[in-house]
Amino acid sequence: MQTVTIAGSEVPAIGLGTWNMGDEPSLQTQEINAIHAGLAAGAKVIDTAEMYGSGRAETLVGKAIKDVPRDQLYLISKVLPTNASKNRMERSLDASLKRLGVDEVDLYLYHWRGQIPLSETVAELQRLTTIGKTKAWGISNFDVTDLEELWQLPDGPKAAANEDLFNLGSRGVEYSLLGWQADHHLPFIAYSPVGAPGQLDTHLGSDPDVLKVAKRHQATAYQILLAWVVSHQQVLAIPQSSNPDLAKENVLAGDIQLTADDRRVLDKAYPAPTEKLPLDVL
Ligand SMILES: NC(=O)c1ccc[n+]([C@@H]2O[C@H](COP(=O)([O-])OP(=O)(O)OC[C@H]3O[C@@H](n4cnc5c(N)ncnc54)[C@H](OP(=O)(O)O)[C@@H]3O)[C@@H](O)[C@H]2O)c1
Repeated sequence: MQTVTIAGSEVPAIGLGTWNMGDEPSLQTQEINAIHAGLAAGAKVIDTAEMYGSGRAETLVGKAIKDVPRDQLYLISKVLPTNASKNRMERSLDASLKRLGVDEVDLYLYHWRGQIPLSETVAELQRLTTIGKTKAWGISNFDVTDLEELWQLPDGPKAAANEDLFNLGSRGVEYSLLGWQADHHLPFIAYSPVGAPGQLDTHLGSDPDVLKVAKRHQATAYQILLAWVVSHQQVLAIPQSSNPDLAKENVLAGDIQLTADDRRVLDKAYPAPTEKLPLDVL
């Protein structure tokens, strides 16, 4: 299983997303089982946010992890832009910690840029790290120009990761962002790594070329999509599945090694960017 190191913590390169989970009471048992199946298959990272279901995803995660030893988990949560201020952020993080049932998260991300000055947000993220409510902080939906601005701030280079949309059908970040992050030792967290079917009009999971590569590895198309994402250095993927069998299958994709010929097939179907593209967001 490939790994990624974030602020000194080495974690398996495929974790678990939680957006749209925890909303429907009748699905709770199945969703908790999906989180347990992903963890049993070797995942450590769980990605959530105060935004998801207005806290319901964090509450679901809290129920799922209550009997899991804390050192077997790497918990990521995120603060909404409107709460990313000196006056409001700590209250947001305290509420997230309460819902999750833990004393600290491992990584606290600024979910996306809003109106609060970046300097104020970063100072508060750093303060909450210093007082031990999160082990590290980072950002999400930042492009190269945002990161360059961040790096000008006194504590900016203390950011531990940036989380952006990245999958085989959305490769814009490969043009310059991934290289910038590698040069600055900033790990990349890939959201919507299987193309967010259901929310986006993507059909990566039924693409004939992806299926062709999948057949070679006796894998599913979704596993190939994930193996491809995490084949990039210091890239963590956080697929979301509410289905225990699929959650397990997703995590096990971290063991698949794509060959040069697999890459040729995938690159031909989904070419790498040849120019800077606007950052895709969901
Ligand atoms: N930072 C941000 O701004 C941001 C934005 C978006 C997402 N995220 C995070 O990233 C996570 C993942 O992104 P995402 O949820 O947008 O998209 P995604 O993980 O690419 O896609 C999720 C969808 O794919 C389906 N799926 C997953 N694995 C599958 C498999 N093996 N076979 C068939 N279908 C499969 C799921 O359905 P089933 O549940 O039915 O399996 C779900 O509908 C989120 O949950 C969230 O934690 C962060």
